Order: sequence, then structure tokens, then C-alpha cells
Amino acid sequence: MGLIHETDYGTKPSTTAKTVTLTIDGTKVEVAEGTSIMRAAMEAGIQVPKLCATDTLDAFGSCRLCLVEIQGRNGTPASCTTLVTDGLVVSTQTPRLKQLRRGVMELYISDHPLDCLTCAANGDCELQDMAGAVGLREVRYGYEGENHLGLAKDESNPYFTFDSSKCIACSRCVRACEETQGTFALTIEGRGFGSRVSAGAGDAFLDSDCVSCGACVQACPTATLTEKSVIEIGQPEHSVVTTCAYCGVGCSFKAEMRGEEVVRMVPYKDGKANRGHSCVKGRFAWGYATHKDRILNPMIRASIKDPWREVSWDEALAHAASEFKRIQAKYGRDAVGGITSSRCTNEETYLVQKLVRAGFGNNNVDTCARVCHSPTGYGLSTTYGTSAGTQDFDSVEHADVVVVIGANPTDGHPVFASRLKKRLREGAKLIVIDPRRIDLVRTPHIAAAHHLPLRPGTNVAVLTALAHVIVTEGLVNEEFVRANCDLAEFNRWAAFVAEERNSPEEIATFAGVAAETIRAAARLYATGGNAAIYYGLGVTEHSQGSTSVMAIANLAMATGNIGRPGVGVNPLRGQNNVQGACDMGSFPHELSGYRHVSDDGARAMFEGLWGVKLEKEPGLRIPNMLDAAVHGTFKGLYIQGEDILQSDPDTRHVAAGLAAMECVIVQDLFLNETANYAHIFFPGSTFLEKDGTFTNAERRIQRVRKVMSPRNGMGDWEVTLAFARALGFTMDYDHPRQIMDEIAAVTPTFKGVSYAKLDELGSVQWPCNDKAPEGTPVMHVGGFVRGKGRFMITEYVATDERVGPRFPLLLTTGRILSQYNVGAQTRRTANVVWHEEDRLEINPHDAEERGIRDGDWVAVRSRAGETALRALITDRVAAGVVYTTFHHPDTQANVVTTDYSDWATNCPEYKVTAVQCMPSNGPSDWQSRYREHADRSRRIAKPAEVAE
Ligand code: SF4
Ligand code: SF4
Ligand code: SF4
Ligand code: FES
Repeated sequence: MGLIHETDYGTKPSTTAKTVTLTIDGTKVEVAEGTSIMRAAMEAGIQVPKLCATDTLDAFGSCRLCLVEIQGRNGTPASCTTLVTDGLVVSTQTPRLKQLRRGVMELYISDHPLDCLTCAANGDCELQDMAGAVGLREVRYGYEGENHLGLAKDESNPYFTFDSSKCIACSRCVRACEETQGTFALTIEGRGFGSRVSAGAGDAFLDSDCVSCGACVQACPTATLTEKSVIEIGQPEHSVVTTCAYCGVGCSFKAEMRGEEVVRMVPYKDGKANRGHSCVKGRFAWGYATHKDRILNPMIRASIKDPWREVSWDEALAHAASEFKRIQAKYGRDAVGGITSSRCTNEETYLVQKLVRAGFGNNNVDTCARVCHSPTGYGLSTTYGTSAGTQDFDSVEHADVVVVIGANPTDGHPVFASRLKKRLREGAKLIVIDPRRIDLVRTPHIAAAHHLPLRPGTNVAVLTALAHVIVTEGLVNEEFVRANCDLAEFNRWAAFVAEERNSPEEIATFAGVAAETIRAAARLYATGGNAAIYYGLGVTEHSQGSTSVMAIANLAMATGNIGRPGVGVNPLRGQNNVQGACDMGSFPHELSGYRHVSDDGARAMFEGLWGVKLEKEPGLRIPNMLDAAVHGTFKGLYIQGEDILQSDPDTRHVAAGLAAMECVIVQDLFLNETANYAHIFFPGSTFLEKDGTFTNAERRIQRVRKVMSPRNGMGDWEVTLAFARALGFTMDYDHPRQIMDEIAAVTPTFKGVSYAKLDELGSVQWPCNDKAPEGTPVMHVGGFVRGKGRFMITEYVATDERVGPRFPLLLTTGRILSQYNVGAQTRRTANVVWHEEDRLEINPHDAEERGIRDGDWVAVRSRAGETALRALITDRVAAGVVYTTFHHPDTQANVVTTDYSDWATNCPEYKVTAVQCMPSNGPSDWQSRYREHADRSRRIAKPAEVAE
């Protein structure tokens, strides 16, 4: 159990190695040069009263409470803004200081409501604490004068209130919004006594630019900005450090609790991925854990046309095992398989793939990571030797040039985006390569040096054109290449990219980007200092996803931007545990640690440990399982924590595959869309209800800690164990800790990982082994993992998905800040106020040509299918391109995506679909039929129905 209140040192730590010595209240103190007197005192255990200072923000010096006296100097300087120097003699408690501080506090309290006992912040209010600390006993001015006590509360934000009557104008919120979050939504309006915090001229928070990250709420020392959950539940009693279960940033949180009830989630200051910051999802959108839609009892049914019937765990497990045994006896051992989830823990994922390989006796296991970042694994292991990003997030603080390609960090990876924006405000240059004008292109105090609004599907061509400029203009870092890369491969590659057909001028003819812009971006990347590339699914989810990843890797090698802080190739992972799901052996061809199933040595080790013979041929990938089901040879599927009907491409094909199976088992929190085709439902547990680990985009392994008992009775790992036992395959573990011990024993990059080490260090980045016992923040330092870096030829091959007269527009997809993937969790929180439905972004020119007005229903038709959604007319998308999100099942965006996929990994080509858009009257026929089926399929039989 952790503490609620962490020490606040008042100002940030200094990173200088040089130290100075001073005396504070008679005590000799040695601290780093550049430390404030306030922090030096706090580090020595001497508390200096403060209100406007907090150690997550730059010192501001406005409240005048932290005054000190310094021997030999006149006046009473603020200790938060005065830095230490050698030999200073400081007093923090003198009669003069005490009197001054009481005077300051008197002024604050005379204009503050005296409702401490009933205030939600009672016990967690710095104003209250400081009144006590300075010994305030009376307010000589009385409370009758001019004041702000009658100001109205702003309750518009679903998660926090703004009670201006309690505001002391310390500006911590304004600075948090600027410095930590980088949104600049708040200002202090007016002067002197009239100064008030404002979310924009008269705007309510909900109508302002605020993105609800909560940094201001956390920074506020009073009850002015307060979480509604604290007002409702009361002050927390204990806390547990755990990890966010949404995106691949992997923010660390203190779950602040009363008993087994979460009061609030507070980003953990010592979290190495997030450094005390979070976004709206991790901080606020956890209410789904107790949502009424959660299914808490196992259910079965004979046919997907029947209503569900609640049964005991024993009955559900026995039925599942007998169905899988029946199917294997009738159709063969390979007729069943399993799907692991990037939402689940490493331990759970490892167990599912173990169950499939050792329990089912085949390699038919795949993961949702297939549909997002499998090209990252393939591309980076081919070129560098490791299937993962090269840096930690801290690295961005050392970057001089940042390329963001096919990613939208302010929506998809918001906490990383805040750190990136900070670096950009400090002067780093930004290149954005994206069909859409994402927020980063122009946002307060930031403007990209170059935006390359390329046509969807032309990544490889544009990346190769950047390489063309680097090679033909003599910008290659020859020293790096000679020392670290395979020279023969480099020469072959250099000759290839230098060909005229790869020049910006040639590529500009079809990629939608001016040649001069490509040239300028290439020059900046190659010559601007430390250059880092961050990319997302806009790179991987293409028919040439793996080629694009290799093209990115080539650029970093050619310019020597690998192997130190500030550079590198950084995949921004979508889901919390995409990296972990891949590491744990979820792909049909790979055991944990990326050892191929045909590797006799690796297989022998697992066979020895698990006591079974393993199959040496790779099993089926998800699309192959669905094809085989349609062809009648694949009949049973166990899906843990995935909604393939909504998240995989070509929904109608997925539906046909699932409908052709005889036993589909879905293990999830809610009856998701895939469950409409399921025969057995195992209720799942949330991240708040289980122990385990997630591995984020930096390869950082972090603990997930149970803060409440599983409401469904069992953690997900326990369900897999029980299912295996029912099948007759025993896996013996008493706690996820032991599963991690096994993972460490069989996976070379995890050799040094244990829960004890994670508890001690907070987190570790793999590889963590004898060579790197505390993990590896930056990879490929002093040489590539594979030996010599390998340049790969990146021939551009246009996707078969072409526009033409029938389908003249290109549809591409992405995420929005407030919602998460298929929305199963975020749609069950108050986050819906920001995004009630998916909309189709369409350029004004294309809209006008088709007679589409803002808000109209629009039919979107592709070669695969048709859906309908409402239009949002915007020039964020170029003419010829339309865009939508895929968070709502009603939209069925994947009804129109095709089954084209990456040549190397089968990652679906979500990002390029040729479509036509026309005005329509409402949902398409398929949508309406599907809704009817879904409503029917979700019925749970009443006890009376069951009795009949
Ligand atoms: S919640 Fe975040 S974005 Fe909104 S005002 Fe506060 S700090 Fe700014
Ligand atoms: S809202 Fe809170 S943090 Fe902001 S100025 Fe007022 S008291 Fe300070
Ligand atoms: S940035 Fe990602 S990991 Fe962090 S709080 Fe938001 S969703 Fe969670
Ligand atoms: S804490 Fe130093 S001036 Fe406010």
C-alpha cells in the first residue's frame, strides 16, 4: 500500500553534477548547483511554506510565502526563485519571516470561503496546510470586504469542477497547462484583485481548448479544481502504483483508493514513461470497470441464434473443453486456435500461446498486434536485428529534429505528444509526413518546419525520395555507415535510391508533395543535429508496411541517427501491450523472444519445460483462420480480450468466418461485437483487478497491480489456467509472478526480469540480462544487435487498391483523443461527451462536388462493402482524401476496408481504401441488418426462459 501524499520539493531537481554547500537553519547542506534554496531546504528535511511552487513546474515566485533571509543580503527573497550558491547562510524561520508570511496568508484567507470542514479538499488542501504552517490565528481584515466568494462554479467538464470562489490566483493551473500539457487553454484574466483564471473569454471548460488531461487539477493547491469523483466519494485512504491499460505510452499511475473503490487516478511522478503526466483516458476514463454492461457470469448457448444462458464457471469451462476436444476429434488437431490480446498482460498472453502450442497441440495462435505493428517487428529485425523501437521517451528531450510520420501523437499518444511539444517549444524542428493536417502541424507556439501531405499509400516512395536527396547531395554520414553497416548492402542501396525514378521530382508527380518540400525535409533531417523518427500505424497498416519500416531504418542508418539519446527509430505502439504481445510469442511462427518455431534448439527447450512435443511448422494467422473456417476446416477459436469483428478488416468476411465455426469462446469485459458470433462467454477482468506486467512502446516492462478483487471471480490468467486444466493440460502457477519467472527463464531478453526487480527499479526496458541487469534505455549503442546494420532495397509498389471512376476517393482512418480503438471501454465513460459518433472528414471541394453538407449522412462505398456516417467538412484532409475514426460499432468503418495486406506480415491495409461518397438518408442496409442481429444476439435468457 502506498502513500497518498508524495513529497513536493517545490522546484524541479537540478541535473548538474557539480555540487555546492550552504547552511540552512544551521544545517550544512550539499546540493547540485542550480538547485533552488527551497528545494535544498526540502531535501534537508526543512519545510519552507509555499503556495505557488510545485516541483513539477518552473518556479514562478508570485505568492511571497516562501520568503527567506540570507546572511549579508538585504530583503527577503523568495526561496523558490533564488538558487543556491556556495557558502550561503539561509534562515527560513525568523520572527520577521513569520510575520510577513502571516500577513500574506491573512490576505488569502480573507477572500476564501470558510467551509473547510465540508470542502471536498479537506485534508488535501495546501492553503489549509499553509494557514496552519504559518500559525495564522486571526484575520484582522474580517471577511466583509470586496471578495470573490459569490462566483459561480463551472461544472461543465464531466470529470472536474472549477470553483473560482476558492481560487488564489497562484497560476499553477495555467503553468501546468502550458509547461506540462502544452495546450495553453488557460489564462489569468484581469489584474491585481480582479485576476481570475479563465478557460477562454467567458468559455466554460467544456467549450474551451481544454483537452481534459487533468494536469491543472493535479497542480491546483486548493479545491478550486477538483475531481468530481473526490467530491462524490471523499478523500482517498491509500494508493497502489499501477500502469494505464490504454495506449502504448504506458503511463504509470497511483490508483488512489478508499477500500476497494477507486477515488482517482493520479499520474505517478516517478513513472519513467510519463514523468507524472497523463491524458484524459488514463486519468479519468476508468469508470467502465464498474459499468452496468459488464458481464460478470460465464454464459453459454448452443447456437448464435439462441439467447445466452448464465452458468457456473465449472459448467462453462467443462463445456468449452468438451467442445474443443470434440472438434479436434472430428476435424483434426489443427481445427482450433487462439487469439491473444495486446490489452492483456504479458503473463496472460504468454499463457494463451502456451495453451495453444502445448494444450491444443498446434501453432494456431495469433494476436491483434498482427493488425497494427507486425511490420515494425519484421522491418526492424531485418535491418537492425531487434523487433522493437530503439529509444526511451526521455530521448526526445535530446532531439534537434523530429520526424513524425503516419502518427497523430496529440490524439493517439498524448503524453508523449506533450513531451515532444515541450522539446519543440525549446527550438527543435518538426517534419510531419501525413495525409492529414494533424494538430502538430500548427498548434500553440509550434509550427512544423515542413508538412508533407502525401497521398495515402505513397509512404515508401516519399521515404525513398528523402533517401535520394541524402545520397545524391552528399549528406550520408559515411563514418557511421563504414563503422556500423554492411558496406556492400549500403552501396547497392545507395545506387538504387540515387536512380532518377526515385528523385523527389519524379515522386512528386504522384505522391502529392512538392519536390522542393521533400528536398528541404531531407536536408533538415540529415543536417539538423540529432534527428529522431516517430511513426505509427499510418506507416505499418499498408500493403508495403514492412517496406516503409525498412525505409525509415535506412534513413536513420544513412545519417548516423542511431545508438545515442535524441535519435533513433521509434514506433508509437497503439495498445498498451502491443510490444509485450509480440515479445511473448503470440505469432504463429514465433516462440517468446522471437525464436522461430522451426528452431530445433528453442523448441527443445520449451518441450523440456512444458513436457509436450511442439509442432515445428508455423500455424495459421487470423486471416488464414477465418479463410479456413469459411472453407470448413477450422472450427473452434478461443479469443481473449479482442474484438476481431470490429477491429479486423473486411467485417463481412470476419462475420462469415466466425459464423462458420462450431465453438467460438470470447473472454472479455462486455458482450463485444465478436461475441455476437460466440457460443461461450468467459467474463474478463479489468487491469484494476489483476497482477501482471505490460510492456510499452519503449520496451519498458511495468507492473500492473491489483487494486480490487476481480468482479467476475477470476483474473484472466486464472481463467486460461482453468480452461487448460479442463482440457487435461496442467499449467501450475499460484501467482503471475511465477509466470514471469518462467518467461525470464525461457526468453533471453527477459533473463534478468522479475517482480522483485520491477518493484525495486520501478520498471526496466528489455533487453534485461547479465549484460544489462538494469535494462537497456537506448539500443544499438556502439553497433547493431544483428552485427552490421542492413540497408534494404525499398522498391515502391503501388497498392492494388486504386482509385478510379467508381471509387475516386481514398479513405484513411485514425483515432481521436477521447476514444480508444473500438471504444469498448471509453464509450462506457463520460468521454462520449467529446465524441458521440464517428464522422467522415471530407474536403470542402469534394463535399461540394457531391452536394454533401456538414452533418449530412453520407454513404461510403468501397469494393468490399458500404457503410454510412455523418459528414464533417474540413480542409484538414486534402481533396481526394476522406478520413474517419473507428470507435463506434454503429459506424462499421471496417465494412469498407479491404483484405489487402502487408506483403511480409499480413498486417491489413487499413489506411488506404478507394471509396465513393454520396449523400444518403441514414445507416446502410448492412448496418441496419447488423444492428438487428447484434440486438438479437445479445439477449440473455431470463431464469424462466431457461427453465422452459
Ligand atoms: S485539463 Fe489539461 S488541457 Fe484542460 S485546462 Fe487543465 S491542463 Fe489544460
Ligand atoms: S485554479 Fe487552483 S491552481 Fe489555478 S490559480 Fe486558482 S488556486 Fe491556483
Ligand atoms: S497517454 Fe496513453 S498510457 Fe498515458 S494516460 Fe493516456 S492513454 Fe494512458
Ligand atoms: S512558493 Fe515561492 S513565491 Fe510562491
